[in-house]
Amino acid sequence: MPKLVSILEFAYRIGFTNLYDWQARILLRYEGGESTAAACANYNGKTSVVFTVAALWTLYNFPRARLMYMSATWRQVTNKFFAGLERFRERRIGRASDVAGFVEGIHDQHGSPAGLLIDEAKSIRDEILDTLERCHTTFRLFMSSTGQAAGGFYRIMTAKAHLWKTFRVPSSDRPHVSKAEIEADRENLKDSVFRIKHGAEWLTDAGDSMTSLEHVRALIESPPEHLPGRPVAFCDFAGPGDETVLTIANGNRAEIVDAWRSRDTMHSVGKFLAHFRRLGLQGYDIGGDEGYGHQLMDRMAEEGPPAKIQQRPSGQANRDIHKPCGRMVVNGRPAHRTQGRHHSQR
Ligand SMILES: Nc1ncnc2c1ncn2[C@@H]1O[C@H](COP(=O)(O)OP(=O)(O)O)[C@@H](O)[C@H]1O
Ligand SMILES: [Mg+2]
Repeated sequence: MPKLVSILEFAYRIGFTNLYDWQARILLRYEGGESTAAACANYNGKTSVVFTVAALWTLYNFPRARLMYMSATWRQVTNKFFAGLERFRERRIGRASDVAGFVEGIHDQHGSPAGLLIDEAKSIRDEILDTLERCHTTFRLFMSSTGQAAGGFYRIMTAKAHLWKTFRVPSSDRPHVSKAEIEADRENLKDSVFRIKHGAEWLTDAGDSMTSLEHVRALIESPPEHLPGRPVAFCDFAGPGDETVLTIANGNRAEIVDAWRSRDTMHSVGKFLAHFRRLGLQGYDIGGDEGYGHQLMDRMAEEGPPAKIQQRPSGQANRDIHKPCGRMVVNGRPAHRTQGRHHSQR
């Protein structure tokens, strides 16, 4: 058995004489057989440097090793990765997750360690990534640029990070790209795009949410103290079969009172009215959305006023005292609550 060559020495010998610090640190973890995951800015040497050195070192030291290199597209596998390996011919398996077919994993076998090299892991479908994560392999390196804060690779980098050695590499750790180029991108690119391309950040919303997902997650993690206020309710009206929801906000706390699916919209009307009465809500305490809301609110008014309202003298003004009078439009535009009684006057 020949003496193992260390991965950094090997890289140097085959011509990678100028590895960046983070590239060397990732390669050392890989060499040590640790599950290593890195979220990196674009164009920083994942495919042509880190994966290439990892693959060649593994095959050089363990001639019976089997490696699976996978990337999201076949173009990336052939044009970038195998093109870079051309001067070496060894056993290797290249897969692209955009090519149809079942992905069987590879596992360590006696005398033949296996390795998984997963490039652009954020674009690999969750079920494929799950299969790969379950493989027993000595070597494991998942790297990717960032994107939406969701999916298997995002979870590896966040919720499952304790099971991996993780790295985040912004483009400031990438000296082959000039500062001027980065600054030009900062000027010209949309902020969210810049933060992915250069900051290796995860995008928690498309940049047009009023409240960011990050903010919501932080609040769920450590909720503020409850400051009570006047209760207001909101009805998310749905058509037959879809989910209808009643929420109530009291000061800074909002909760779902009830959520149900019903084929019979009159059944929903009855439920709403029962809830309104039980919660002591007046029409002006209640908002609802458009669409099915129109019809349902009209049905509510027709359902007849509850006993205690009937006794009131001024019929018309109180006719629909439990009918929602606010209306909210939430399809993309900023939501706001209107207090007018416009739809009961139509
Ligand atoms: N240590 C390094 N020294 C000099 N250039 C590097 C180094 N690492 C990466 N590069 C260069 O970065 C560029 C992008 O590499 P590539 O592997 O395509 O990036 P990625 O796969 O991360 O998008 C290539 O031109 C590569 O030569
Ligand atoms: Mg690449």
